[in-house]
Amino acid sequence: MEVIVCRTADEVAEVAAAKVARVCRDVGPGVVIGVATGSSPVALYESLAQRVKDGRLDMSKASAFALDEYVGLPPGHPESYAEVIRQTVTEPLRMTPALVHTPNGFAENIEQAALDYEQAIVDAGGVDVQILGIGSNGHIGFNEPTSSLASRTRIKTLTATTRQDNARFFDSIDDVPHHCLTQGLGTIMDAHEVVLVAQGVHKADAIAALVEGPVTARWPGSVLQLHAHATVVVDLAAASKLELRDYYVQTYAEKPSWQRFDAR
Ligand code: GLP
Repeated sequence: MEVIVCRTADEVAEVAAAKVARVCRDVGPGVVIGVATGSSPVALYESLAQRVKDGRLDMSKASAFALDEYVGLPPGHPESYAEVIRQTVTEPLRMTPALVHTPNGFAENIEQAALDYEQAIVDAGGVDVQILGIGSNGHIGFNEPTSSLASRTRIKTLTATTRQDNARFFDSIDDVPHHCLTQGLGTIMDAHEVVLVAQGVHKADAIAALVEGPVTARWPGSVLQLHAHATVVVDLAAASKLELRDYYVQTYAEKPSWQRFDAR
């Protein structure tokens, strides 16, 4: 796992976007990206959008798969993740809407929708680079604590903490759905590369558990310790509980130039 500690949230976005853009260019026009919702990756998406605008990146033939969706929100609901992804990813990155996918949380048959989503990822050739945020309780996607480390796309019940954290996007906490459809930890682990971003002191416990704790379903993000190509990009506040923070800073400063994301 590569841990990159940045001085500011802006730097987190720039470093993570450089990494994602590098994968997109290396894989080519048909790259498949995995996209997260939430506030954490918003600046990263803006940085990628700037590259698209400048002509440095072309995402018109790329595909995207969102991590998760609320169950029960009708299509077009402003807080549905399909809508959030359309506004923060599809349009700014000038992606082709038909190539951008979100689990169908409004399906009559949720179990079938989960199976269909897994198949769609396989049919697209798998995810080349998965962008992730992390919940304050350590969830990635909506894989809440005690999610199976081998789980696939399925329905999950949101914890009270997650519903409280996400209530800011809704008129009232009563409007936050209780269930979601989320890629499993096993699904996320199948991505070829993973780039996780976190900012702020409210993520410090989750980041410490992810990077330095035991691999445990109690802190689902810790499964990324078993991923061969995981990059964790955090600001100083999110890094504040990392015991080996100085080592990560030193490692990044001493990274050989040929290994840097912007090396070519
Ligand atoms: C949400 C999403 C996650 C996201 C996390 C953190 O509920 N399902 O994909 O990473 O919680 O959200 P935020 O980035 O807003 O802190």
